[in-house]
Amino acid sequence: MTNTSLPIHQPVMLDEVVEALAVRPGGSYVDGTVGLGGHAFAILKAAQPGGRLLGIDRDRYALKHAAKNLGSYGDAAVLSYGNYKDMKDICDEHAIKHVDGLLLDLGISSLQLSQPGRGFSFQRNEPLDMRMDSDQRLTAAEMINESTEDELAEIIWKYGEERRSRRIAKAIVDDRPLNTTGELAGVVEQAVGRGRGRSNNIHPATLTFQALRIAVNEELMHLQAALASAHSLLEATGGRLVVISFHSLEDRQVKEYMRNHSADRPRERWVPDVDPEPCWRRITRRAQKASNYEIARNPRARSARLRVAEAIPIARSA
Ligand SMILES: C[S@@+](CC[C@H](N)C(=O)[O-])C[C@H]1O[C@@H](n2cnc3c(N)ncnc32)[C@H](O)[C@@H]1O
Repeated sequence: MTNTSLPIHQPVMLDEVVEALAVRPGGSYVDGTVGLGGHAFAILKAAQPGGRLLGIDRDRYALKHAAKNLGSYGDAAVLSYGNYKDMKDICDEHAIKHVDGLLLDLGISSLQLSQPGRGFSFQRNEPLDMRMDSDQRLTAAEMINESTEDELAEIIWKYGEERRSRRIAKAIVDDRPLNTTGELAGVVEQAVGRGRGRSNNIHPATLTFQALRIAVNEELMHLQAALASAHSLLEATGGRLVVISFHSLEDRQVKEYMRNHSADRPRERWVPDVDPEPCWRRITRRAQKASNYEIARNPRARSARLRVAEAIPIARSA
């Protein structure tokens, strides 16, 4: 079987993902961020004969591509529009109780970044949208134009780790309404200038755009909910959870979740009433990174951090 129409999005750490999931023939998998189906294709390939995969994405457009790219697997690939925070319910809808592995490849795809009209990038001037799920009501323009200055500063600080968040928030409020990516990038650039110690290649609005995207799509909240529900899908099989993150906020969340719920967590992290039994065995203690070979061919892989944990049963009292 060959995968001819891919890729518009180049999946990162493909071999590492298949290995980390310990994919086996006949196994059952969930890809919570199926995107264009690059990872899903490789997982399905390694799971034959008999393997199956449920692919979830909140972007209907990505799902159309995934359907084409995974078409050769027929019924073995099932696709579902939805949010990975609801994956337990989505699995229930498809009568899936347990799976052998679960993948979350976080963030946005190259398709979303490059697709005209999505408003994720300041490389083109277009409406400030940034919604991964076009059915969602809140857009980046609404957030920019309707939040208070304090709320904007908090978003830019919290999700962009941008130390000039207050100055940027004030400039935005002074110049609103802002309705395009070009207007926002221009205001940020005017507020903080270019360069100044940083590489001139990094646009001064990079962290502000990242922060808005995370806030509009509630990325960190959804990740937390997904991590919390993953165990129940993997517990019966001792299956693996594999997460690839692309910035430190996500990676920190994944690292802390896996550490705080693992059998080898530090003693001071035991919270007996809240989390009486450890439920994960950490397979990676340090995040795995892409090889130099891959980074040279796909610059997006440079910031990828892969973490893996294996579900262990929770001992429940009778
Ligand atoms: C980095 S891309 C995944 C690419 C995919 N692994 C591939 O090989 O084509 C991330 C995908 O996750 C989706 N996504 C992000 N947050 C999501 C969420 N909370 N629920 C479902 N899908 C989400 C995005 O729409 C995007 O298509």
